Amino acid sequence: MAELRSRRSNLAVPGSNPRFLEKAKGLPADQVFLDLEDACAPLAKPGARKNIVAALNEGGWGDKIRTVRVNDWTTEWTFQDVIEVVGGAGANLDAIMLPKVQDAGQVQALDMLLTQIEKANGLEVGKIGIEAQIETARGLINVNQIAFASPRIETIIYGPADFMASINMKSLVVGALHPDYPGDPFHYILMQILMAARARGVQAIDGPFLQVRDVPAFEEVAKRSAMLGFDGKWVLHPGQIDAANEIYAPSQEDYDHAELILDAYEWATSEAGGKKGSAMLGDEMIDEASRKMALVIAGKGRAAGMDRTSSFTPPEE
Ligand code: GLV
Ligand code: MG
Repeated sequence: MAELRSRRSNLAVPGSNPRFLEKAKGLPADQVFLDLEDACAPLAKPGARKNIVAALNEGGWGDKIRTVRVNDWTTEWTFQDVIEVVGGAGANLDAIMLPKVQDAGQVQALDMLLTQIEKANGLEVGKIGIEAQIETARGLINVNQIAFASPRIETIIYGPADFMASINMKSLVVGALHPDYPGDPFHYILMQILMAARARGVQAIDGPFLQVRDVPAFEEVAKRSAMLGFDGKWVLHPGQIDAANEIYAPSQEDYDHAELILDAYEWATSEAGGKKGSAMLGDEMIDEASRKMALVIAGKGRAAGMDRTSSFTPPEE
């Protein structure tokens, strides 16, 4: 966890719009994905491939993770998307996002294609990661195999809009609770994705929220997946970026407390601290499981570049 690159906010940028591509470079998102799929009209896709290659090679993305979303394998576009983008800008690209992944075979097909393109272009084999988007009922029932389908997998992403269509959900407000439904209909889906991602040791990312002017509603939906353990969420509009960066990082208080637990537990288990497996930190009893929980929070805080404001002093004898 401590070595993870932060993906709290993942900004969607249509590849067909050079002005948006340029603007995205300066925005404070942890990650960008340049889209060749659903935000790009079919007639605009060939031009978008070229815009994306140019924008990646131009640089200026800072330390953002740079991803391109290609079209899914049921279309006629996928192979050309991958060949053109990775062949043209592989050195300046971190990962390919594969939408509507149905099964492990689709990930393996992309893996093999990437290997060939990397070899043909003198890139290190395995350089380009894969982000697998789960957006159909079939993808969800296969998510465990998908997560383990390739060493290139870096994230499992929830695609709520396509998913809601796939399961015939009777709502048009993506990711929002249906007013007539008392529970949280998305909990099961989010948890399945989270379990697969965690079992495989990769990041779990929540998808878009389409009501882009309603930041409080975005925050409400984002808090739900952040609370479960998701690492980040898509942002469709610059106005959603700060909210995502804040919600998917620990609060300062939680981060400070996590670092304090790590120090206190290390001291308690040491020779000088009395080789104790459980100890008191203020009014809280901590043990090895507390350390593991604290490592998660501290890992997320460190990845987000947070500064610690707490310090540990060993108790007087
Ligand atoms: C994203 O691709 C979605 O379908 O929600
Ligand atoms: Mg989708």
